Amino acid sequence: MGENGYSFIVNGIERTTSEEKMLLRYLRDDLHLHSVKDGCSEGACGTCTIVVDGKAVKSCVLTTKRAAGKDILTVEGLSGFEKEVFVYAFGAKGAVQCGFCIPGMVMAGKALLDKNQNPTEEDIKIALRGNICRCTGYKKIMEGIQLAAAILRGDEEIDYELEKGDDYGVGKRAFRVDVREKVLGYGQYVDDMTVQGMVHASAVRTKYPRARILDIDISKAEALDGVIAVLTAEDVPNNKVGHIQQDWDVMIAKGDITRCIGDAICLVIAETEDILAKAKKLVNIDYEVLEPVRDIHEAAAKGAPQLHKHAPGNICQSRHVTRGDAKKALEKSKYTVTKNYTTPFTEHAFLEPECAIGMPYKDGVKVYSSDQGVYDSRKEIAIMFGWDEERVVVENALVGGGFG
Ligand code: FES
Ligand code: FES
Repeated sequence: MGENGYSFIVNGIERTTSEEKMLLRYLRDDLHLHSVKDGCSEGACGTCTIVVDGKAVKSCVLTTKRAAGKDILTVEGLSGFEKEVFVYAFGAKGAVQCGFCIPGMVMAGKALLDKNQNPTEEDIKIALRGNICRCTGYKKIMEGIQLAAAILRGDEEIDYELEKGDDYGVGKRAFRVDVREKVLGYGQYVDDMTVQGMVHASAVRTKYPRARILDIDISKAEALDGVIAVLTAEDVPNNKVGHIQQDWDVMIAKGDITRCIGDAICLVIAETEDILAKAKKLVNIDYEVLEPVRDIHEAAAKGAPQLHKHAPGNICQSRHVTRGDAKKALEKSKYTVTKNYTTPFTEHAFLEPECAIGMPYKDGVKVYSSDQGVYDSRKEIAIMFGWDEERVVVENALVGGGFG
C-alpha cells in the first residue's frame, strides 16, 4: 500500500483507494463503471471480465490491493473506434440478446485481438472459455469477435446504415435496437440502478430443504446499528402468493415447514450492503430437520408428506389435453413404438442478479424488476398486500436473464 492507499490506472486515469475490497465492487460502486457486471461474484461466469496489463481478468477475483500498480481497462475505456467496431460486429452478427454477458465477452475479445489480429475459431474459444452466455449461444458471439478482428485488420468495414434500421424487412439483416447500450455497458439492468435514499434488503433462507421452523430470533440483527427492520411472515398481510396456485409462502412462518432450500424465513433491511450481510448472519433460526421430498416419484409415493394443504397427493393441478383421436390414429398406424421418454432437469441459470427496487408510489408501490413477468409480479404483489392491482406498478429495466 502506498502512502495514500492502493493506486492503479483505470481507463487511463490514475485512481487511489484506501479500501481493500473486491476490484469488481470498486469499479462498479466507486467509479460507477457499470459495464463491469456482477453475475456471480465468485469467478464463475465472466460477466465482470476486464483487461489488466493486457490480459483478460475477472475483476471479482482481484482486489484493490492486488490491483495496485496495474493498468486496468473496461469497456468504457476502449477507444471510440474500438467501441464502434464491437457495437457493429456484435450487432451485425446477432450476438446480443439479454446482453448481460456481453461487456465481459467484449473485453475477453479485446485482450485476444490485441495479441492476435487473425484468430482462428479455436483461438476465440480459448479466449472465451471463462465467459458464460445464458442466451445467445456462443456461435454468434464468436462470429462477432471474428468480424471485429476483420474490421480492426482493415479487411471489413463498418456499415453504419445497418444500425439505423431504415431498411428492415423479411429476409433482411436486422440490428437489435438495444445493441449499443448492451455492448457498451451503459444500458441499465436493475442491478445498475440506484434511487435516492435507497436502502438494501435481502432474505435469510432456510438451511434445510424440509424443516419445521421452531423459532426465529431476530433480536440481535434488529439491534445492529444501521439495520432498519427485520420482517417475518407475521408482517405480511397475505402470506400466500403464486403464479398458478396461490400456495407459495412469501416467508415461512414460525411453526410452518419449508419445502425447498430457497424458502425465505425473514427479510432484513439495512442502510448498506455490508451491514445487511452482517445482520443476516445474526438471525438465529431453530429448525426441526425433516426428510426432504426430493423428486416427483417421492412426492407421488403412498404416504408421502403433503407439501401444500390444498394439494392432496402433492398434485398442483391436473389437466387433460386431447387433440384429434389418438386411439384411432394408432390403430390405423402401420408401425407403433412404445417407449418411455424423459426430459432432463434444466436450470435456467440467469446471469443477472435477481433483484428489484421498490418504492412508495402514489397510493401504492412502484417496483423496478429484473423478471420477465411484470403482470404476474404486479398481481402477486397486489395479492400479498390485499390491494387492487391499480395500486401496484411494475416496470422492467433491461432483463439480464431473469427469465421468470
Ligand atoms: S466471474 Fe466475476 S462476477 Fe462472475
Ligand atoms: S446475451 Fe449472453 S447472457 Fe444474455
